[in-house]
Amino acid sequence: MKHTLLAAALALLLLSAFRPVTESWTPAERAALSALHISRLGAAPPDPSNAVADRPEAAALGRRLFFDARLSANGRVSCASCHAPERGFQDGRPVGQGLATGSRRTMPVPAAAHADWFFWDGRKDSLWSQALGPLEDAAEHGANRVQLVRLLAEAYRPEYEALFGPLPPQAALTGAASPLGTAAERAAWARLPEAQQQAVDRAFANLGKAIAAYERTLMPGESRFDRYVATVTAGRAADEALLSPAEVRGLRLFIGKAQCVSCHAGPLLTDQHFHNTGVPPRDPRRPDPGRAPAVARALADPFNCLGHHSDAPPQRCAELRYIADDDPHMQAAFKTPGLRNVAERAPYMHAGQFATLEQVITHYVAAPDAVLGHSELARAGHPHAERRPIALGDAEAADLAAFLRSLSAPVCERGQPC
Ligand code: HEC
Ligand code: HEC
Repeated sequence: MKHTLLAAALALLLLSAFRPVTESWTPAERAALSALHISRLGAAPPDPSNAVADRPEAAALGRRLFFDARLSANGRVSCASCHAPERGFQDGRPVGQGLATGSRRTMPVPAAAHADWFFWDGRKDSLWSQALGPLEDAAEHGANRVQLVRLLAEAYRPEYEALFGPLPPQAALTGAASPLGTAAERAAWARLPEAQQQAVDRAFANLGKAIAAYERTLMPGESRFDRYVATVTAGRAADEALLSPAEVRGLRLFIGKAQCVSCHAGPLLTDQHFHNTGVPPRDPRRPDPGRAPAVARALADPFNCLGHHSDAPPQRCAELRYIADDDPHMQAAFKTPGLRNVAERAPYMHAGQFATLEQVITHYVAAPDAVLGHSELARAGHPHAERRPIALGDAEAADLAAFLRSLSAPVCERGQPC
């Protein structure tokens, strides 16, 4: 009798130790997990505003431009200075550092093509139009569009003209001129005949379109998390080399009690939308208004989907035509970042406010009131009253952080071994 009891107890113990992890996921949970698998991502959605978006020759030209520091005022800043491939196409700094120091954190480029809106505030409606921003930003590349188009003519003419046709006449390409630059650059721009201004603008837009074609080839690879999901959704037992017990517990919190998946959804772990989550501003005297003023900027942008240099017919610019410009929840709201490779890119949030993943999770549990606008997470007076507080103990917070570390994988470039 004694022996039988002992044997039964031993068997139970062994069973619980080796119980395959699959058992513990319900069919509904398995469906929720498979929605996060990288294979659900597919190719980047088409960009009708960019006729060369998926042309390999455009991506090849864009790749060279992305790494070319001649596209700057001092010859030392390229896109890759801040979006460094060896760092997952970001820079690990709290805020961007080009010719001067910026006010927001550099965002990773891989899979950016899956978004509808670009930048933390979504003030751009396409990847090609986004690329034009940093080139003329005084704190980033500090270049001007005449200088940039001259570089295309001098260093990239055959590749450029094969894709886009003739470059502007030489007469339009002397000196430094832009409608956005210094006072001298703006005056020089005003002196250019309108036809030349338009020709320069067109080539400038095409420069962005080639860079965008390259960016569209960059995708996150398969992480440990994906291999785990593939295993458990196929009904096989996952061993601890895929995810440790702590990581599995963290994953359960992520899709369950901690409600992270309500915003960090889909294979990129983002809803591609804007939320005010009460992240403390970098400078409390001048809190960043985020999405609220960016809607008007996107609508007024001459390089938007409805502009002269877009390749899309107006009916294919639905995002811009039906944009809501009076949503009070957009005050100090920022784009939900995707969480793939998140462990590789501290510090966090739109201005690097938090140094570690643990600090990020502590913020979600504390859910402070927002300095500007209303936090969706704060307990009192928030507009989404249906959202429950995120209540996590210390051990749970540690498990959640452990899970976030399983989302790392190398970045892959389409057509290259990964
Ligand atoms: C000085 C550093 C710096 C340089 C140089 C720079 N960027 Fe950025 N990049 C940033 C910062 C900072 C942000 C976020 C800015 C914001 O939201 O206002 C950003 C945002 C982006 C985004 C938006 C991603 C998303 O998910 O919305 C893309 C794409 C991007 N940059 C591509 C480029 C390209 C292409 C170039 C070169 C033409 C470039 N960047 C040059 C710092 C830089
Ligand atoms: C209401 C939507 C929402 C919910 C719920 C939410 N997040 Fe976020 N998350 C965001 C937004 C928006 C940001 C960017 C905020 C900012 O920069 O001001 C963000 C940023 C982050 C970042 C920083 C990423 C980076 O690149 O800077 C991490 C990590 C993160 N969230 C993890 C989580 C976890 C873990 C949970 C669950 C406890 C969670 N989030 C719940 C919307 C949400």
